[in-house]
Amino acid sequence: MSFEPVLSCPTVPLSNGLQIPIVGLGTSHYGGYSHDSIMYALTECGVRHIDTAKRYSCEEKLGKAIRESGVVRSDLWLTNKLWPGDYTYKAAKKACLDSCSLMGVEYFDLYLMHWPESSQPHCSNREMRADTWRALEELYKEGVCRAIGVSNFLIHHLEQLKEDSSVIPHVNQVEYHPFQQPNHLMEYCRQEGIVFEGYSPLAKGQVLSNPTVLQIAEKHRRTPAQICIRWSIQNGVVTIPKSIKKKRIQENCQVFGFQLEGADMAALGRLHDGRHVTWDPTNVE
Ligand SMILES: NC(=O)c1ccc[n+]([C@@H]2O[C@H](COP(=O)([O-])OP(=O)(O)OC[C@H]3O[C@@H](n4cnc5c(N)ncnc54)[C@H](OP(=O)(O)O)[C@@H]3O)[C@@H](O)[C@H]2O)c1
Repeated sequence: MSFEPVLSCPTVPLSNGLQIPIVGLGTSHYGGYSHDSIMYALTECGVRHIDTAKRYSCEEKLGKAIRESGVVRSDLWLTNKLWPGDYTYKAAKKACLDSCSLMGVEYFDLYLMHWPESSQPHCSNREMRADTWRALEELYKEGVCRAIGVSNFLIHHLEQLKEDSSVIPHVNQVEYHPFQQPNHLMEYCRQEGIVFEGYSPLAKGQVLSNPTVLQIAEKHRRTPAQICIRWSIQNGVVTIPKSIKKKRIQENCQVFGFQLEGADMAALGRLHDGRHVTWDPTNVE
């Protein structure tokens, strides 16, 4: 396997003109965070896009690692997410500012509503989403969030939000890998100017032993993970593979020195079987 520098990670334009690096590093709860790996990603691999969430309980440690890395804040794309327990206008504003202060940053590049459902009583999901979104719109106008978006939103959630608010989300972060290709949603996002960002690009590892993926990996002398990440990139999808292992982080960054052919893309495109490896918002009203 050859290693090429990752410093020139391409970006995808958001509707407000910001540029999001097409590959980022994920973090998560349950073994999803390692200080040394973040340091390694930032200082050795040139990673400049990190995805986190309040839910992952690593905001404080991540903020410390970013400072220790010496990477200039303005050179880093930092995405954070608002957990449904913090929905409502008032709670959302507080949660975002608390997250900023916990991480020791003045702003987030992207701030997402993590999930379309809220278990708050006496209020429909739709009303709750609209009320919470109002807070994100204000945080955006105040510059605390340079872009705002949603995660796990389906077309009907996005349509309702469009009717109920004034700022169209800049990004929708959704599960996306060869087994889970929500093509209608992707097309809707494209038409609405919403950048489609894919999470769990390796299907949490499930896709790495698929025979088609293995065959394409062998042909290109790349790893199965690199094939899946490259497939996302060539589909124009921002992708955030997560690893806490240095070797894998490096591997997952080395995805710009080769190209999948049309036949490879088509073969991977046929692997969709509809499975979700994380969570499924289909039944959320
Ligand atoms: N918005 C949402 O609701 C949502 C939901 C889920 C995830 N996310 C975001 O998306 C990120 C990625 O998703 P994910 O963690 O669910 O799944 P993923 O990135 O598809 O897969 C992560 C798993 O694959 C392993 N792995 C990583 N690179 C590998 C490689 N090169 N070779 C072999 N195995 C490898 C990791 O193990 P090691 O760490 O041990 O290497 C981990 O077990 C998360 O970190 C999070 O930031 C968002």
